Amino acid sequence: MRVIDIIEKKRDGCELTAEEIDFFIQGYTRGDIPDYQAAAWLMAVYLRGMSERETRDLTLAMARSGDMLDLSDVAPLVADKHSSGGIGDKVTLVVAPIVAACGVPVGKMTGRGLGFTGGTVDKLESIPGFRTDLSPQEFKAQLARIGIVITGQSENLAPADRKLYALRDVTGTVSSLPLIVSSIMSKKLAGGATAILLDVKVGSGAFMKTVEDASRLAEAMVRLGRELGRRVGALVSDMNQPLGWTVGNALEVQEAINVLHEDGPPDLREHCLVVAAEMLALAGRVADSTEGVELAAQAIADGSAWRKFRALITAQGGDVRFVDEPDRLPRAPITEPIPAPTDGYLQKVDAAQVGMAVVDLGGGREKKGDLIDHSVGVVVHYKVGDRVQKGTPLCTIHASDRVRLERAKARLLEAHTIGPEPVPPLPLFYKKIPQQ
Ligand code: URA
Repeated sequence: MRVIDIIEKKRDGCELTAEEIDFFIQGYTRGDIPDYQAAAWLMAVYLRGMSERETRDLTLAMARSGDMLDLSDVAPLVADKHSSGGIGDKVTLVVAPIVAACGVPVGKMTGRGLGFTGGTVDKLESIPGFRTDLSPQEFKAQLARIGIVITGQSENLAPADRKLYALRDVTGTVSSLPLIVSSIMSKKLAGGATAILLDVKVGSGAFMKTVEDASRLAEAMVRLGRELGRRVGALVSDMNQPLGWTVGNALEVQEAINVLHEDGPPDLREHCLVVAAEMLALAGRVADSTEGVELAAQAIADGSAWRKFRALITAQGGDVRFVDEPDRLPRAPITEPIPAPTDGYLQKVDAAQVGMAVVDLGGGREKKGDLIDHSVGVVVHYKVGDRVQKGTPLCTIHASDRVRLERAKARLLEAHTIGPEPVPPLPLFYKKIPQQ
């Protein structure tokens, strides 16, 4: 088999066989196929697309490019969730303990933030001592012991995706349905979970800009999950403004803790209850989402979700005093409110720009490997549709120095559109795509 033939075949719009896809993926992962050939192949896939059968074979080949975790000896069913990435998305920190407290084991490998979106690993690392580099053996042992684990992706989890994603990022080939589906689903398959809830975001702070595109992506992943023998369901949720009030690592951990203590922003609480309910329904723990929401709310109210969160922090080496007394979490030296420049209604937020303001402050990465400051971030005080009063704080910036603060301030003012006409509040969810 020759790589050039595989590139030409896809360039000409033909379907690749499973063997050709596997040859390409394993060859590229080993380093036998150079980046320039892989880039040409990616562009051919981007322009010509892939059939569902090809997408399934690509996903399997990518999943098999590294370790495949088998969790069946730990629990017959392990739940996981995946968000396609957003601003202020601390949902995993709340939902994983809720679901585990309801008796469904949760085993999750998760990522760091890049660009305007945050990552759960970064948020958890605001807690001194918390380890996010568990080995597959440690992952399984902890899952068996306490029924919950959240760690970074091991080096050898779907290594084909690691290489291909970096190449897609610099070759204009990220926004391709088969490439996104295979990227996300290969990691989920290799992570070993059997019941997977996908939270596909849509809007100004998301990768997908229209509900139609997000639904198409979600439906393709749900269908693929079924074909590959996993229980997969999806929600299409709004990302046209930050979720909750806070954006920034330690601030988000504190907000997640508040929700686990029956406090915190109503939108975040409701979002978490719905995601948890869908996970519980997928896992067969409840008959439907209504029962799931009740059970999830009860796990918060009776303190069992909070106890599970504490157990997670302790098991992974985190200093539990920092979550018991979240005021101990990293704090930025400067806190400054930005007054609303005018009266009116908050009509629109460019959520990606709010995320970028946190990158300006040092709380996110412009490129892989950048160090981040866990203490900095932004607290928003209004949601779309709210009446805004001139001079009251629109946002509060938590910064480490004034130069960064001024940069973030300019961006945040630009990101908020205030106008005289009232607008309706945004929904939290647009669509649910049930397991098929
Ligand atoms: N998230 C991923 O993991 N991969 C993609 O291709 C897009 C979003």
